[in-house]
Amino acid sequence: MRNLLFLLSLTPVLVLVASAPSSTSAAPPSSTVCGDITKRTAGGVFPAKTVYDCLASVPFNAAVGSRLLKYVNDTLQFHSTLAYLASPPPGYQQPGVDLVAGLSQLQRNIDHGGYVNEYDFEVALHRLLRAGHDDHLRLAGGILSNFAFGSPRAIASVSLDGKELPKVYFTEDLFAYEASDGSSGLSAISTINGRDAIEYLTEFAAVHAVGKLEPHAEWNMLMQSGALDIQGFFEVFYSGATFYPGESITFGLENGTVLKPEDWDAVYYSPGNTGPLETGGDFYNFFVLNHLPASYTEMPEPSSSSTPSAGDSTSSSAAPAPSPTELPNTAYPRTPDVMQPGLSINDQGLLRGYFLNESSLAVLTIPQFVPHGRKPNSFIATVRQFLQRSRRAGLRKVVIDLQQNSGGQPLLALEIFRLFFPFIDPSAASRRRAHPMADALGSTLTPYWQNLTTNSSAYSALLTNEWVVASRLNADTDQNFTSWDDYFYSPASYGRDHFTHSERYDPSNHLFTLEAADITTDNRNSSHPAQPYEAEDIIILTDGLCSSACALFMEMMHHEAGVQTVVVGGRPNPGPMQASGGTRGAAIYEAKRLDRDISIAQYIDRSTRARFPDRQYDFFTTKLTVNLRDQIRFGDDEASPVPLQFQYEAANCRIFYTPRTWYNYTNLWTYASDAIWSDPSLCVATSTDHHPHPPPHRPPYTVETIKPGTSTPADDQPQSNDPSNDIFAGTYPVGNYDLRPCNYTSDCGGGGRYSCREVNVCQNGIVKPLKRCTQYCSSGYDPCGSGKCKSSGLSGLFRPSKGSYDIGYCHTPVWRWCSGKNGHKELYHGQFHEVEKSGLKLAKNYGFDACDHYDEILYCYTLDGRKSGVRFFANGNKEVDTVEDENENGEYVEGFDPPDYNERDDFD
Ligand SMILES: *[C@@H]1O[C@H](CO)[C@@H](O)[C@H](O)[C@H]1NC(C)=O
Ligand SMILES: *[C@@H]1O[C@H](CO)[C@@H](O)[C@H](O)[C@H]1NC(C)=O
Ligand SMILES: *[C@@H]1O[C@H](CO)[C@@H](O)[C@H](O)[C@H]1NC(C)=O
Ligand SMILES: *[C@@H]1O[C@H](CO)[C@@H](O)[C@H](O)[C@H]1NC(C)=O
Ligand SMILES: *[C@@H]1O[C@H](CO)[C@@H](O)[C@H](O)[C@H]1NC(C)=O
Ligand SMILES: *[C@@H]1O[C@H](CO)[C@@H](O)[C@H](O)[C@H]1NC(C)=O
Ligand SMILES: *[C@@H]1O[C@H](CO)[C@@H](O)[C@H](O)[C@H]1NC(C)=O
Ligand SMILES: *[C@@H]1O[C@H](CO)[C@@H](O)[C@H](O)[C@H]1NC(C)=O
Repeated sequence: MRNLLFLLSLTPVLVLVASAPSSTSAAPPSSTVCGDITKRTAGGVFPAKTVYDCLASVPFNAAVGSRLLKYVNDTLQFHSTLAYLASPPPGYQQPGVDLVAGLSQLQRNIDHGGYVNEYDFEVALHRLLRAGHDDHLRLAGGILSNFAFGSPRAIASVSLDGKELPKVYFTEDLFAYEASDGSSGLSAISTINGRDAIEYLTEFAAVHAVGKLEPHAEWNMLMQSGALDIQGFFEVFYSGATFYPGESITFGLENGTVLKPEDWDAVYYSPGNTGPLETGGDFYNFFVLNHLPASYTEMPEPSSSSTPSAGDSTSSSAAPAPSPTELPNTAYPRTPDVMQPGLSINDQGLLRGYFLNESSLAVLTIPQFVPHGRKPNSFIATVRQFLQRSRRAGLRKVVIDLQQNSGGQPLLALEIFRLFFPFIDPSAASRRRAHPMADALGSTLTPYWQNLTTNSSAYSALLTNEWVVASRLNADTDQNFTSWDDYFYSPASYGRDHFTHSERYDPSNHLFTLEAADITTDNRNSSHPAQPYEAEDIIILTDGLCSSACALFMEMMHHEAGVQTVVVGGRPNPGPMQASGGTRGAAIYEAKRLDRDISIAQYIDRSTRARFPDRQYDFFTTKLTVNLRDQIRFGDDEASPVPLQFQYEAANCRIFYTPRTWYNYTNLWTYASDAIWSDPSLCVATSTDHHPHPPPHRPPYTVETIKPGTSTPADDQPQSNDPSNDIFAGTYPVGNYDLRPCNYTSDCGGGGRYSCREVNVCQNGIVKPLKRCTQYCSSGYDPCGSGKCKSSGLSGLFRPSKGSYDIGYCHTPVWRWCSGKNGHKELYHGQFHEVEKSGLKLAKNYGFDACDHYDEILYCYTLDGRKSGVRFFANGNKEVDTVEDENENGEYVEGFDPPDYNERDDFD
């Protein structure tokens, strides 16, 4: 009965690739392969070559490219680890890279006419940024952002007995092998395209994996994983590669069978109704410049009985049944013992607890530190309930499964740590790179804030601004910094860079207090926290793909509390592997947030204008982030501690996946706990040494120099006199509709980039679920800045088939600073936008289309992004001062002129 109810409660919202609805206008004269991609109505999977041919036909504009490079370069000044990357300390497992020198080389290549098409340029830029191996260093936008390449077959790397070195298999063979109890044949992949499979895949991982600190972690990113499937994302090899991998792939198996060549796939993650994008020029206009064709028309809202439209949360009743190609996610036991309340299992109820009574194990799975759902408190309450119930059930040991955890809210990681170890005060220290722009921001915002009375609303609005340091704890003294200079000037340096003093988390700064209703056990009135488990009775399991907030959690649990770690998988060789092989960094910082902080500084002190670069650019980015603060170990008493990102830290034990454990986590959890608590021989040979094999000496990454005149456009390149390829001709810019009030998706323009969703909005100090236009995202397309893509639908139950995907929306919590009790604790990365009626009216009065409302600070802009400014208001809506964009002579600029796109010499 229970199972039946469970099944009935499923309302899978499988969305086949949003087909571009047919447009009213006729195709332009010379429609190309690009037009076929956006026009196709069924299925979003194409032969990779078809998509590559389209992308290679998109022209390049040197002026737009150069402005992007400058914008990226100026933003990179805030990346905390530039000097360490340029000259990595020993222990770092990746080649170094001088990112600033790389950008200069890219610029020289542009100057020499080196890039014949947009694809080559974007690939060169992405490869450079990825050489930073930092998940917090990300760029999304341009023509690459809506496509992913992948193999027609999914793979996994397993060791048949857990001891011999793993081999790579097709996952379909592994499933069949397990289903037949080992009687079906199983033959490993020995060659790919005629080369040794391990060698081929290692190289593939080095090129296509993103943000990982060592080849072991990159290797795991290629493999199918139940912990990734449950989040609705695909692994890199099957459907997550950014660059064109070639036309076909040929697998050779150990038993001698050589499969016939198969096409590599390309998936188009349609952003919705873009109207007809027929030519390379159309692609440039839409994906690079964010311009829609003149023929674009908003689609009317489908009537309620029709099939659900992508991104319309209101019409899910007529959802199609999942297609038979979907495989159930059997990695996790069907029914969790503890789950975040208010979320159904297929609505990203990802935080789950399982009680394995036979082995006396309580397992907590945390695939993200993201509090989905209306009541974020319930995330913490769930962990608390897990601890209370597992104790009551008498379970002796705890396994915390963090496989594929790419992070989320650091404060959530901190709160969960406190539930496990209430008596440890975690340090979690971090520093920034000290450079002139940072000084200009901090030396303006910090004293401005210090001068405010605490009852002013700007005081609370700026309290957690990154450039207000007087509210932060100095890690050396445990007192707040007294001034910006007290923070900024420190003797710490490395190579050519200087660093600030280190700050640490403020232990008095609790995320929220649990309300009685959040606690469902009889312990609710206990005011004395107790430590539920000893550190030696807890292990953390990862696959190395633990980044950001996850790495912070790991640092606290492992380094500060002494919990042991088990890491699973990695390249097929013996030796140790790191448990957190992703970014160890304390603060991700978005370029758009930086732009706002610059505007605020310029408002406060006009004389700072000269200290900031021009931040206008025209390349459409949905995400550009850097790692603003590193992560260091408090107590490292050297003058200049090495950021944890560059320190090698092996897991206590490494294990291999086996056919029984790779997609059955009940078995995996038991295996990992046996390796630590009863049978150390399960640990991979020499993996408990804790010393890395010396990393293979690989030269630093450099941008390829393209000599003048060496690149000639191929025959199929667009001809510059082809009028159908006009960049910018007959188009109009897409507006910024982010978090505008709406009733239907059709209220949100923007070429389909936005959908109307109920999201948490802060209004007058209260979090309310209201309908707002939110940026759309999906399993393959993640434009969500520092937020996370919340997809609804199949995740958790099925692995979606390639070409169908789950459309979600960017989820950024607003709850923490919105509560009346805590006041404005934090403006979450500037992601909060509330266009209130009064704000809108004021915006119109001053020639803006919208304003983001930060209490008394309004950040206003025009929908085409051409003009923006900050306005300060005190006492309600009485305006006290405004600042608008000015040129360097201090003159007001009436919008900026886009570059002249009719200059065609770039394509000759
Ligand atoms: C990047 O910024 C640095 C520091 O401001 C500057 O020296 C360099 O010339 C810039 N490079 C490019 C390509 O803009
Ligand atoms: C080799 O192995 C593959 C995959 O396990 C199987 O499909 C194929 O039939 C085998 N070929 C031979 C000749 O055994
Ligand atoms: C995992 O394996 C165990 C033991 O072999 C089995 O009892 C269990 O049903 C499997 N789990 C799933 C979800 O198939
Ligand atoms: C394990 O024991 C607890 C408490 O006795 C019970 O609630 C739970 O259903 C049991 N789980 C399984 C899988 O048997
Ligand atoms: C602080 O406020 C006083 C009085 O309003 C003003 O004169 C002074 O310039 C302010 N200082 C800063 C750093 O804003
Ligand atoms: C804020 O507090 C100051 C004194 O600390 C007082 O003079 C002022 O009137 C208060 N302002 C408001 C709006 O309450
Ligand atoms: C640091 O500043 C914050 C914000 O003003 C304050 O809440 C906290 O009590 C201060 N901490 C110390 C140790 O002074
Ligand atoms: C949504 O519907 C309400 C009620 O019909 C209407 O008042 C409001 O203006 C609509 N909002 C938008 C953005 O169309």
